[in-house]
Amino acid sequence: MNKSYYITTPIYYPSGKFHVGHCYCTVVADTIARYKRLRGYDVFFMTGTDEHGQKIEKKAKDANKTPREYVDEIVSDTKDLWKALNISYDKYIRTTDEEHIKCVQKIYEKLYNSGDIYKANYEGLYCTPCESFWTETQLIDGKCPDCGREVELVKEESYFFKLSKYQDRLLEFYNENPEFLEPLSRKNELINNFFNKGLEDVCVSRTTIDWGIKLPFDSKHTAYVWIDALANYITGLGYLTDKDERFKKFWPADLHLVGKEIYRFHAMLWPALLMALDLPLPKKIFGHGWLIVEGKKISKSFGNYKDPRIYINATSVDTLRYYLIHEVVFGQDGNFSEELFVEKSNADLSNDLGNLVSRVTAMVEKYNGGILENCNLNEEIDNDLINEVNLVKSKVEEKMDSLKVNEALTEIFKVIRKANKYIDLSMPWVLAKENKKDRLNTVLYNLVETIRICAILLKPFLVNTPKKIFEYIGADENITDWESSGKFGLLRNGTKVTKGENLFPRIEYKEGIFDMQEENIKVEEKQEKVEQVNEKGYITIDELSKVELRVGQIKEVSRVENADKLYKLLVDVGEEELRTIVTGLVPFYKEEELLNKQIVIVTNLKPAKLRGIMSNGMLLAAGETDVVKLLTLDNNAGNIENGTRIH
Ligand code: MSP
Repeated sequence: MNKSYYITTPIYYPSGKFHVGHCYCTVVADTIARYKRLRGYDVFFMTGTDEHGQKIEKKAKDANKTPREYVDEIVSDTKDLWKALNISYDKYIRTTDEEHIKCVQKIYEKLYNSGDIYKANYEGLYCTPCESFWTETQLIDGKCPDCGREVELVKEESYFFKLSKYQDRLLEFYNENPEFLEPLSRKNELINNFFNKGLEDVCVSRTTIDWGIKLPFDSKHTAYVWIDALANYITGLGYLTDKDERFKKFWPADLHLVGKEIYRFHAMLWPALLMALDLPLPKKIFGHGWLIVEGKKISKSFGNYKDPRIYINATSVDTLRYYLIHEVVFGQDGNFSEELFVEKSNADLSNDLGNLVSRVTAMVEKYNGGILENCNLNEEIDNDLINEVNLVKSKVEEKMDSLKVNEALTEIFKVIRKANKYIDLSMPWVLAKENKKDRLNTVLYNLVETIRICAILLKPFLVNTPKKIFEYIGADENITDWESSGKFGLLRNGTKVTKGENLFPRIEYKEGIFDMQEENIKVEEKQEKVEQVNEKGYITIDELSKVELRVGQIKEVSRVENADKLYKLLVDVGEEELRTIVTGLVPFYKEEELLNKQIVIVTNLKPAKLRGIMSNGMLLAAGETDVVKLLTLDNNAGNIENGTRIH
């Protein structure tokens, strides 16, 4: 049986549009999930949205919407963004899902019954944007230490979770499991900032917020959003339900990926809650850094961001994925700038990768009619390249297994650069000129093999490029699975190689290059055709409603001159004037058979000229060649007016 692997991103607040900072964590998680799948793991990758709480309640009110209406819109847009980035999640959890709500209530019940939750009065400070409680001493300059915004005084009856009770067990667990919290610097920071001062119990309910999960033992109270949110990692697996196969299979999680500002909730509160529930703890919590712009975290509140789909539409999904994975040292902060984005795309993707593929495939086409032929005339420079290619799989695996995701990508690009250098050193154009055919073919073979292996290794990171490369170099699925990246020489002699288009066209950077309208940004709108194919030809109700069908009555019929099959019809579709429709019904209906029939007309089809006559609309009929029958109305049920809309 395959080994299982459970990976999560945080569930995001749907409190506005998402930015490249949110994409960062999701793309990295997706890359790890894809990598594990390629390594044969049975992966469960979950992401979603954290939809309750004061922040959402306020935002919805400001937008004049119910919280549900407000979050539904954002969730639909977020799913579209994940689609644009090809995020391969297995489940999208929403904290407003019925199963989640029920499970959170059961969790509260359990904790209450075991005495880990108790009632008291809370008086303290609250930061609504962060949904965090603070004490006076934790504030920095009287403001929230996480986001620097104003906090408010909250005074209410609350339930508390006995976090203090778990302090020693937590520390013991950290010590016994040195890989549990990463990176190490964040773990040390956490211990210094919180444990050394002693953990305090946490307020886990609110009475002044309606938009939340009601506590089963006291419905005046709603669950604190952080408990509600953290629980998603187990409610999403069916914990405490009779459909808990996933929970049995995937819990404990292998990796919770989270941003540094929410690390403490995951590193302290979450494990303590799990201890209280008597559940095993996740294997690893990794706190990554932020994407920053001009020194500031990209965030909704600073407004220093664009819709990430702008970058995807202007370049490609792989360009954005590459930037996010490569430019941020995993665990540290990384810069996002449009200029750097273009620079990296040109340097690494167009020049190094794109150029290698187009140069090599073009040379195989030019010098050997597109046919690969390894003549095994290797020299020292060849062995040098091949040795490096033979090592790259294990280097990438080692980096990925230790979560050095950006470094894994760097290893692949080192080989890509080496291959470009190999072209300069081996000079295939000189070999061609000197008619050293066997040596030339050997060089080309080595290059194409290098490309095949790099493309396999790129699969977790880039979603479209590897497929395109395999097509160009004629590599079928037998030699493009992960294991095949460890074997040089799998491409057979005689394989057909085709010169490919440039995978990453160069972009000219100018100020404002991405300042485009955000209209039509959704992939759904751009991908109608693809989706129809993907989803078995289904169209959405919105797409269907674009077709205007109306009842029309044929008022006049005449033949079109010099056309054997065409009638010109004048049809009443309830408008002031009759519509002219040209149709090929002559072989199937006599003129008198058509007259006065009530039929179905597509009234919003773009008019088109047929035999010089402007035809404005289309009638619906069944059959194509031998028999054609018009769709007519059943008049037995009474008459219906011409022009009536058909739904
Ligand atoms: N809802 C909580 C998480 C609950 S998980 C049980 C939350 N949501 S959030 O939408 O505010 O942030 C979600 C994630 O996005 C966090 O991990 C956060 O660090 C990440 N990012 C938000 N802005 C970011 C950057 N500019 N850069 C990188 N990641 C950033 O917190």
